[in-house]
Amino acid sequence: MKLLGISAHYHDSAAALVIDGMPVCAVQEERLSRRKNDAAFPLLAIDWCLNRAGLEPDDLDAVVFYERPMLKFDRILTCALRAFPHSWRTFPEAMKSSLGDKVWVRGTISSYLGLPARKILFTRHHQSHAAAAFLTAPTDRAAILTTDGVGEWATLTVGHGVRSTNGRTAITLLREVRFPHSLGMLYSAFTAYLGFAINEDEYKVMGLAGYGRPTMVDKVRRLIRQTEDGAFALDLDYFEFHSTARRSYSSRFIDLFGPPRHPYEPIDLASADGERFANCAASVQRVLEDTLVTMARSLHAETGLSDVCLGGGVALNGVANARILTESGFTRVFVPPAPGDAGCALGAALYADRIHFGNPDRDVPDHPFWGPAADGVELARLASEDGKPVEQCEDDDSLIAQTADDLAAGRVVGWMDGALELGPRALGHRSILASAATTEMRDRLNRDIKFRDEFRPLAPVVPIEAADRYFELPAGGARLARFMSGVFQVRREWRAALGAITHVDGTTRLQALDREMAPRLYALLQAYGRRTGIPVLLNTSFNLSGEPIVNRAVEGYSTFLRCGIDVLVAGRTRVMKKGAVSVSPE
Ligand SMILES: [Fe+2]
Repeated sequence: MKLLGISAHYHDSAAALVIDGMPVCAVQEERLSRRKNDAAFPLLAIDWCLNRAGLEPDDLDAVVFYERPMLKFDRILTCALRAFPHSWRTFPEAMKSSLGDKVWVRGTISSYLGLPARKILFTRHHQSHAAAAFLTAPTDRAAILTTDGVGEWATLTVGHGVRSTNGRTAITLLREVRFPHSLGMLYSAFTAYLGFAINEDEYKVMGLAGYGRPTMVDKVRRLIRQTEDGAFALDLDYFEFHSTARRSYSSRFIDLFGPPRHPYEPIDLASADGERFANCAASVQRVLEDTLVTMARSLHAETGLSDVCLGGGVALNGVANARILTESGFTRVFVPPAPGDAGCALGAALYADRIHFGNPDRDVPDHPFWGPAADGVELARLASEDGKPVEQCEDDDSLIAQTADDLAAGRVVGWMDGALELGPRALGHRSILASAATTEMRDRLNRDIKFRDEFRPLAPVVPIEAADRYFELPAGGARLARFMSGVFQVRREWRAALGAITHVDGTTRLQALDREMAPRLYALLQAYGRRTGIPVLLNTSFNLSGEPIVNRAVEGYSTFLRCGIDVLVAGRTRVMKKGAVSVSPE
C-alpha cells in the first residue's frame, strides 16, 4: 500500500511517502523551495517524494492530509463570531492568515495529482502529531502527550497507544484542551512580546531564559490557571490571538509585564530592560515546564505506563522534556526528530496505514534521514568550475582523518553526508562542525558564520558511549539526547574545556550519537577525540540565519562562500578556502 502524507498551509509544509508500512522518504518544502518555513502547498516536496520512489500519482492508494480543514474553518468562524463586533474588521484577515487555502485542500490535491476525491483522506491534527511521535518510537505501548499552538480545536491531547504485529495498532486520545486555551499560544505570546517571530523563534525565548531568573512566575500564573480536571485555562483578558491575527497579547498584558521589546532593539542583558526580558523568558519557561510536568505526572498515574511519547511543536522545548523525564514518573521519554507540523506529514501517512487501513505494525527506522542526498561529485564540479581547491579522498578513512585535523586546528567545517534530516535540527547530515572548546569559537560561529544573536546557545554532539563523562544525563537522558530533544547540565569539571557549547546556566542541548545512526560523523568524533582528548564537537545546523538548512551540494557550496566556514565536505569531496589549505597533522 502506497500512501502520501501532506502537511501544509500553516507553517513548515512537508510531504512523506509510506510504502508497505515503512517510511520511504520525507522532506520539508522549505528545503526545496529555499523559503524558510514555507507554508505553501508542498508541490516540490510531493514531486520529489514521488520521483524518489519512481511513482506516478495514480500509483498512490491514498493521499492523507494532516488535519481536517472544515474543523479548522469551524473554529475560526466560531471565534470570530464570539468576538463580534470587535472582530468584524479583522475577520477577513484572520481567515486569510489562519485558514489560507485550507478549506479547498481536497480540490487542490485532487486537481494537482489528478486523483479521485475518494482517495483523499484526512486525519485530525493531533492524531497526526500523536502518530508521528508514537508510531516512529521503539516502544510497543506508551502514553502520548501532544502540545502545540493549535490544530483544528485541540491544543493539547493526552492518550495512549498500543502497537502489535499480529493485532491492530491503536492510538486513543482520551482528552483534549481546546483553543483558545493553549500552552503553545501562551509561549508564542511571550515570543512576540520579547520581539521575536512567532512559530519560529520560540527557542530563542528558551535560550534567553537561561540568562534570567523566574522572578515573574506569579505574574505569569495570572495568565494561566490550573483547572479542576488537571488541565489549564488562559485568562483571555491578557491575550488577543483568539480575536485578531494582528497581535497575540493585550494592553493588560503590557500593564502587567511592562513595555514590549521592539524587534530591532538589541537585548542588552546589563540593562534593566534586558534583565526584565530575560526574567520574563525564564518565568514563562518555568510555568510551561511546571504545567507540562503536572499533566505528564497525572497521565503517568492514569495509564500506569513507563513510556511516554511527546508530539507537537512544544515538544521542541528541551528543558521541559528533560523535566518530564526526571519528574513525571515515566522512565522513557520519546520525542521524534520532527515533532512539529512538518513531521505531521509522516504522522498522517503512518496513521492512515496502521489505523485507517488496519495494516500490521512495522518497526520504523529510528533516524531522521528521509530527505534528498548530498552529492560529493556535484560539489567537486561546482568548486572546480569556480577555481577553488578541491580534494577527492580515496576512502572515508582519509577524509575523516583530514577533517579531524582541520577541526583540531580550529577550522570550521560544513559537513554534508547522505540524506537530509526531517525536522528543524541538524543531527549529523547537514551540520556545521567546530571545536567545542572555547567561548571564542561560539562567538565566531554566531558572528561570522550564523550571523545571529549572541545569547543563543550552540549545541554539541558526542558519541553516546562518552556522553556520561561530559554531561549529567539522568536515566533515560541518552535516549532524549538521540535527536537533541533534551537540555542537560554539562558536568562542572568540563565546562571550561567545553566553553563553546556550555550555556550561561551550565546546560546544553546535546546530541548523543549512536554509531549506527551516522557512522561517518561517529568516526569523525572518535578521530577528533584521539587528537584533542575530548570527542565532543560543536554541531549547529548548516544554514545562515533566516535561511532553511542546506539541502543539495549547491546550497552547501553557496553558504560556504557567504560565511566564515573554512572547509566544506560532501561525500568524499573536500573544498577549502584559501588559507585553510595546508593542514599540519598533529
Ligand atoms: Fe501542530
